Amino acid sequence: MDERTALVTGSTSGIGREVAMGLLEEGYTVLVTGRRHLLLESFLEEAGKKKGKAISHVADLSSDEGIRSLIRKGQAELPHIDILVNNAGGFVFAPIERLSDKDYETLMSVNLRAPFLLSQAFLPEMKKRGSGLIVNISSVAGTEAWEGSSLYSMTKFALRGLTGSLLAEGAPHGVKALAICPGYVATPMVSGAPVPEVEMIQTSDILKTIRYVRDLSRYAVSPEILLNRLGAFS
Ligand SMILES: NC(=O)c1ccc[n+]([C@@H]2O[C@H](COP(=O)([O-])OP(=O)(O)OC[C@H]3O[C@@H](n4cnc5c(N)ncnc54)[C@H](OP(=O)(O)O)[C@@H]3O)[C@@H](O)[C@H]2O)c1
Repeated sequence: MDERTALVTGSTSGIGREVAMGLLEEGYTVLVTGRRHLLLESFLEEAGKKKGKAISHVADLSSDEGIRSLIRKGQAELPHIDILVNNAGGFVFAPIERLSDKDYETLMSVNLRAPFLLSQAFLPEMKKRGSGLIVNISSVAGTEAWEGSSLYSMTKFALRGLTGSLLAEGAPHGVKALAICPGYVATPMVSGAPVPEVEMIQTSDILKTIRYVRDLSRYAVSPEILLNRLGAFS
């Protein structure tokens, strides 16, 4: 069987770490990445006990060069990419007048430009091979907006637009695209949230969602999955 491969951004922590580890357990070769090299080193150590193989690359996706270096690494180290998970993300919640130009540039780059450029780089090869899956981690904040969510919501709404188009371009060639829009997921990103961790969505739920859509037949496509926690409805 062909080597199965994945690139998971933001794999030093939270959702990305869980997804990358889960794919390694299945035997994938996974390119993991983030800014924190010590966390990548400890990831590689743990990955050594899994079935698949991990390759790491330190990159800051807030810069164009960081994004391009990751693309180059993927093209150089992986024969192809079966699953691209655009997961890395930053988060700023503040009234619009308190957001700085730097907040804007950083979030637009990490949350949006990186997924756009990575998809642009790897979709053509997936189409040629006739298979693949691009997952964009959006948010419930990409389906509704609140006070203070302007910048974060902009990026997460836009990711859903990107996903819809990737699916329209990819599906006729056997390539799927999926936006996952979760509410609170128990990760360091929301450690200050007014909800106990046990009542949050678990990172394993995101991994299961990716596996579920991956394993559907190529004719069963889903552009997005909204995954809210029970408490959001009570
Ligand atoms: N947790 C939630 O409740 C929730 C809900 C909905 C959506 N999401 C989305 O889920 C995704 C993952 O978040 P998480 O909850 O797992 O948070 P997390 O544990 O804080 O992880 C965020 C990841 O993104 C990476 N990252 C952040 N800025 C980066 C940069 N400039 N360059 C490269 N990598 C960068 C981090 O790596 P380094 O720090 O090592 O660079 C880290 O691996 C995000 O897109 C987030 O918006 C989270």
